[in-house]
Amino acid sequence: MSNSPFTLENKTAIITGAASGIGAATAELFASVGATVHASDINLEACQERHAGNDAIVVNHCDVADKSSVESHVASVLNQGPVDILFNNAGAGMVGRIEQTSEEDFDRLYNINVKGVFHMTSALMPHFLEKKAGNIVNMASICGVIGVPDRFAYCMTKFAIVGMTKAMAMDHAKDNIRVNCICPGRIATPFMLARINEYPNPEAIRADMDASQPMGRMGEPEEVATVALYLASDASGFVTGACESVDGGWFAG
Ligand SMILES: NC(=O)c1ccc[n+]([C@@H]2O[C@H](COP(=O)([O-])OP(=O)(O)OC[C@H]3O[C@@H](n4cnc5c(N)ncnc54)[C@H](O)[C@@H]3O)[C@@H](O)[C@H]2O)c1
Repeated sequence: MSNSPFTLENKTAIITGAASGIGAATAELFASVGATVHASDINLEACQERHAGNDAIVVNHCDVADKSSVESHVASVLNQGPVDILFNNAGAGMVGRIEQTSEEDFDRLYNINVKGVFHMTSALMPHFLEKKAGNIVNMASICGVIGVPDRFAYCMTKFAIVGMTKAMAMDHAKDNIRVNCICPGRIATPFMLARINEYPNPEAIRADMDASQPMGRMGEPEEVATVALYLASDASGFVTGACESVDGGWFAG
């Protein structure tokens, strides 16, 4: 038995969007400190490939934007035993101002980023209330606490996640259910790096993106995973309703 407050021994976690980037790194970290992890993603094959051979990680298909997919995923996990931690990590990005955002773009981002958190948390909340314990970590962004240029729809969704986090933290503070969110700056995930490579001048874009963070670089997925572990573990036992910045100092300025 570990005496570390950061242990997740005997805990079960669900992590959405766990095939890649921050979700995948968090699944690996949680498993390494003793958790059983249900790693789900809309891209089942990529999730299977990423976590092949890790016995502590159970891979599932789940589209967080689809209520019936969420409900069957959560029911199947609960059939296997109780759940302690929900990391609502799945999300999609979009570059553009309001004038470049179609109604379809707006709805797509809203359905994945906002309704995804709503569907997953609604499906698990009765279980957390019944056992009078639960830990929810939501993935927001620097775009959930400040307006970032060219990220109109994305900011809309991430501000909503901060709002849901604080509202649920208040509603369930006395139910032993903690609800927090993480607000990363730019993190060098495969998704982010692939996007940069689509520009005609990727090196200049990368330099611009590095410079958004006062520390002068992007973060690594593992540097967000450790903050998720802090929030998911007893190390943060008196923390609820918090927005943890992981942004190399961006929000401080
Ligand atoms: N990378 C960054 O700079 C950054 C910064 C702030 C916040 N975030 C947030 O972190 C989270 C993870 O991003 P990432 O950079 O690791 O991206 P990523 O693209 O590497 O990973 C996102 C994962 O979510 C999955 N996904 C997409 N739509 C889904 C759906 N409907 N249902 C289930 N899974 C779905 C994808 O298949 C992918 O595996 C997102 O919520 C993102 O908004 C990322």
